[in-house]
Amino acid sequence: MASPARRPRSAARSAVGRAPQPGSPSGAAPVEPRTLAPPERRAARVLAVERVGSYDLITALDPAGPREPRPGQFYMLSAGERWGGGVGERPYLPRAFSYARARPGRDGVELDFLLEDVGPGTHRLRELRAGEPLLVLGPLGVGFRAPGVERAALLVGGGIGVAPLLCLESELASGGTPPRTMLGFRSAAHAQAATLFAGEPDLTTDDGSAGRHGLVTEPLAEALAADAAVEVYACGPPAMLEATRSICAERSTPAQLAMESGMACGFGACFGCVVQTRSGYVRLCVDGPVLDAATLDSALSAGGSHQG
Ligand SMILES: Cc1cc2nc3c(=O)[nH]c(=O)nc-3n(C[C@H](O)[C@H](O)[C@H](O)COP(=O)(O)OP(=O)(O)OC[C@H]3O[C@@H](n4cnc5c(N)ncnc54)[C@H](O)[C@@H]3O)c2cc1C
Ligand code: FES
Repeated sequence: MASPARRPRSAARSAVGRAPQPGSPSGAAPVEPRTLAPPERRAARVLAVERVGSYDLITALDPAGPREPRPGQFYMLSAGERWGGGVGERPYLPRAFSYARARPGRDGVELDFLLEDVGPGTHRLRELRAGEPLLVLGPLGVGFRAPGVERAALLVGGGIGVAPLLCLESELASGGTPPRTMLGFRSAAHAQAATLFAGEPDLTTDDGSAGRHGLVTEPLAEALAADAAVEVYACGPPAMLEATRSICAERSTPAQLAMESGMACGFGACFGCVVQTRSGYVRLCVDGPVLDAATLDSALSAGGSHQG
């Protein structure tokens, strides 16, 4: 695939969040207002739950929330009913999910969430049916920032980590510069999620059942060897993020990593989500989840829950 056009100087600060403040983000300090979320949980209405290969896509109408979340931000979700308390039911705390797509409309904003069923919370959420309540808190956290001047965006996603790259792809494309996108999955069934992207992502699978056989970081390393003057946006399991961080560091390529850690509150109160940066611990829910790779010695955060 041909390299996308370089981001022109005049447009470089107009899309995908606001520009970093002077002095940041090379330190760990947050570079944006922390959250625009109303400080309370509200009920959205499930419109559909659709199977996409090995994943589930939940669409819900949020009638009262902010209508324009920024790519990389997330919501704390819980089912309106049967969310813990019953026999064998564990979740009481909401679970964190990146929004995958947002469509503002007359009656509110339609939000898409792409889920992998890995435990009791995601299992319950994928059981939801149209018309049922989905409790939401968000959008939360600091999302992706615009690429640097004269740098094209290169998106790299692994597994369920492709979710926040969907809205990022769409935002960058609407600014006139469709990004190059590389996606890696375990198998062809997981790789069905690639069909949600508007462009034509470069595809890899661990087992070779779709696309190129191998890890998504292999085409990434090749692309940077050919042209390192890009800005990388990555989300995926901790090992993939760490490989991405390391490959980008070798080439002095800036990278923004959407990371995961166990989150109990989502808005800075519990300190359950802290990750270590070069300048100390940060709370991923309010200082992230997108962190500048240059602030990290390692992206192998202790709380990252997805392994592939
Ligand atoms: C900002 C953010 C965005 C996210 N976006 C998405 C998304 O778009 N789609 C999606 O499917 N998931 C997403 N997640 C992950 C999701 O929130 C977790 O997988 C959640 O724990 C699932 O809840 P559960 O009850 O189904 O499973 P749980 O029982 O909570 O956990 C499932 C598995 O993950 C492991 N696990 C859970 N927490 C930790 C931890 N702190 N450390 C190590 N292992 C852990 C458990 O051992 C278990 O094997 C996101 C997480 C964050 C922080
Ligand atoms: S999840 Fe509670 S402080 Fe981050």
